[in-house]
Amino acid sequence: MKEIRNISVAGAGTMGYSLAQAFAKFGYPVKLYDLFPAALEKAKKLIAINQSAEVEAGELTAEESAALQQRIVFTDKLEDLADTDFLVEAILEKLEIKHDFYGKLCKIVADDAILCSNTSGLSITKIAEAVTNPERFAGMHWMNPPHIIPLIEIICGEKTAEETAEQVRQIALKLKKKPVVIKDAPSFVLNRLQQAILRESLHIVREGIASPEAIDDVMKYALGFRYACFGPFETCDLGGLDIHYNISKYTWPDLCDDKEPFGLLQQCIDEGRLGVKNGAGFYDYSDGKDEEVIKRRDDIFLKLAKCLFEE
Ligand SMILES: NC(=O)c1ccc[n+]([C@@H]2O[C@H](COP(=O)([O-])OP(=O)(O)OC[C@H]3O[C@@H](n4cnc5c(N)ncnc54)[C@H](O)[C@@H]3O)[C@@H](O)[C@H]2O)c1
Repeated sequence: MKEIRNISVAGAGTMGYSLAQAFAKFGYPVKLYDLFPAALEKAKKLIAINQSAEVEAGELTAEESAALQQRIVFTDKLEDLADTDFLVEAILEKLEIKHDFYGKLCKIVADDAILCSNTSGLSITKIAEAVTNPERFAGMHWMNPPHIIPLIEIICGEKTAEETAEQVRQIALKLKKKPVVIKDAPSFVLNRLQQAILRESLHIVREGIASPEAIDDVMKYALGFRYACFGPFETCDLGGLDIHYNISKYTWPDLCDDKEPFGLLQQCIDEGRLGVKNGAGFYDYSDGKDEEVIKRRDDIFLKLAKCLFEE
C-alpha cells in the first residue's frame, strides 16, 4: 500500500470545499485547487460556516476546528499539486473538461499518485482514457455534504487495479466513512435510485397529484425517515413481501418512464434557477436564506449521523 500523506482536492465548488474538510478533519494536509480565485474565496467562507456548525454541534472544539482550517491550503495553480499522494477531483461534470484536467494533471503528479473522480455518474472507464497508468484511477463518489454524509461509492472502471480500490476503501475507513465498492455503470447506485425518485416526484407534480412541498414532506417524515435506518430490501422484509409484491403489481404500470427531464425541473433550468448555489431553485434562497439552509442542513445531518452511526 502506498503511504498517503498529501491530499489534493480539485474543484472548490459545492463538493470540493466540503471534501477538503473531510480529509483535514483527520489530520491530512489538503490542497484545495480551483481554476478560479473567486471560487476559492467562496470556499473559504463556506468552510468557516460549516466549521461553526461543527463546533456548535460539539463535533470539534474551537481549537480543533481552527487547526483543521489551517491544514487546508487554497491554490489556483495546478503545479502546486505536484506532491499529491491522493487526489479527489470534483470539477465540472463534463467528460471533455475532466479529460483536459487529467491530461494536464498527469504531467505534474507522480506516476503512482492515486487519482479519484467524484463524478456523479460519468463512466470511470471513459474518464480513465485521459489518465496515464489508469490502474491507479477509480471513482470515489461522495454525497453532498461529503464532510458529513457517511456513504462513499468506490467505483472500479475496467482498468482500476484491485489494490487501488482497496487503498481508496482504506482511506474512506480512516475518515470514518461507510464505503461500498461497486462496478462502473451509468450513475452508479445512489444516483440511479435518486433519479428514479426525482423523476416520479416531477411526474406527481405534473399530474397535479401533490405539490413539491407535499412531496418533500412525504420523503422527510416517512420514506427518508425509514430509509435513514433500513434500506429498501430491509423495509420490504419488515412490511411483508406479499404486501409489497401486490403494491408493485398495481403501481408499476402507472409509474413515470419518461426518458428526458421535464416539467418543473426543465422550467427551473430554462429560467437559470440552479438551486442554493445561485439563490433560487424549486424554492427561494435569496437574502441570506442560502447560508441559513446550509447551516440548518449541517446541524440536522450532524445530529442524525451522531444518532445513527456513533459507536
Ligand atoms: N453537487 C452535488 O450534490 C454532487 C454530489 C456528488 C458528486 N458531484 C460531482 O462532483 C463534481 C463537482 O460538483 P459540484 O456540485 O461541486 O460542482 P460546482 O459547479 O459547484 O463546482 C465545480 C468547481 O470546479 C471548478 N472547475 C471547473 N473546471 C475546472 C478545472 N478544469 N480545473 C479546476 N477547477 C475547475 C469550478 O470553478 C467550480 O468551482 C461533479 O463531477 C459532480 O457531478 C456533485
